[in-house]
Amino acid sequence: MWNKVQETVNYLKNKTNYIPEFGVILGSGLGSFTQDMEIEFTIPYAEIPNFPVSTVQGHKGALVFGKIGTKSVVAMQGRFHFYEGYDMKTVTFPVRVMKYLGVNKLIVSNASGGVNPNYKVGDVVLIKDHINFFPDHPLRGTNDERFGPRFVNMSEPYSRSLMKRAKEIALQNEIDLKEGIYLGLQGPTFETLAEYKMVKNVGADCVGMSTVPEVIVARHMELDCLGISVITDMGDEENIDEVNHNEVLEAARKAEPHVRKLIKEFILSF
Ligand code: HPA
Repeated sequence: MWNKVQETVNYLKNKTNYIPEFGVILGSGLGSFTQDMEIEFTIPYAEIPNFPVSTVQGHKGALVFGKIGTKSVVAMQGRFHFYEGYDMKTVTFPVRVMKYLGVNKLIVSNASGGVNPNYKVGDVVLIKDHINFFPDHPLRGTNDERFGPRFVNMSEPYSRSLMKRAKEIALQNEIDLKEGIYLGLQGPTFETLAEYKMVKNVGADCVGMSTVPEVIVARHMELDCLGISVITDMGDEENIDEVNHNEVLEAARKAEPHVRKLIKEFILSF
């Protein structure tokens, strides 16, 4: 794993002299964030050695290097999901690559189903914590100490200081930013009514099929994380939606201007 990561990092460093400080993972329907970037270099995943290729519709599949103001950013346009069939080490490989490209702050976005009755479709939620219900773990197996320790502290998966900053930015820009706990499930099925109820009962506010593995690997390497989720459907009993992928994409696209603005202003604030 170490050698593969270094090989990919060296390849990318030879292609671009760019040292990104911020990493951004763009979730379903959120890919247009790159329009806010002064793009220096775009490379499709298919051209990057050791990178998997994304298979989901609505996920583009390119690494985009560029600037937001004076800040250097690398954005993942499209991510890899466990349900696509990749193992967890593959799902999280790009996060390792981002770290050794120079990233120290990771902004992760996603679409999720809301189970908190105070949410509605289109809400933007600051992920304050997560619950890992994936059936595999990205750090399972031999630990490579060069990346990080065997036992990773998860008391602050999402950086408190980054959250504080994001909340201030939201307030200044009149973006309604909810807060909540994200629960990660493997998918690809959406939840049954009973499962949405379980998600709520174990203490989560929203549920999705990504983010948790990426944040775990980011914390393994001590990256500070900020998580942002767009509620694309509701799974609470009174309000259950018959959700499908197109609806998820559509709802995410509607919330996209707010998420874009939030991430942009957040990065500019440093
Ligand atoms: N469940 C799981 N993943 C999701 C959902 C959902 O309701 N909406 C968007 N991604």
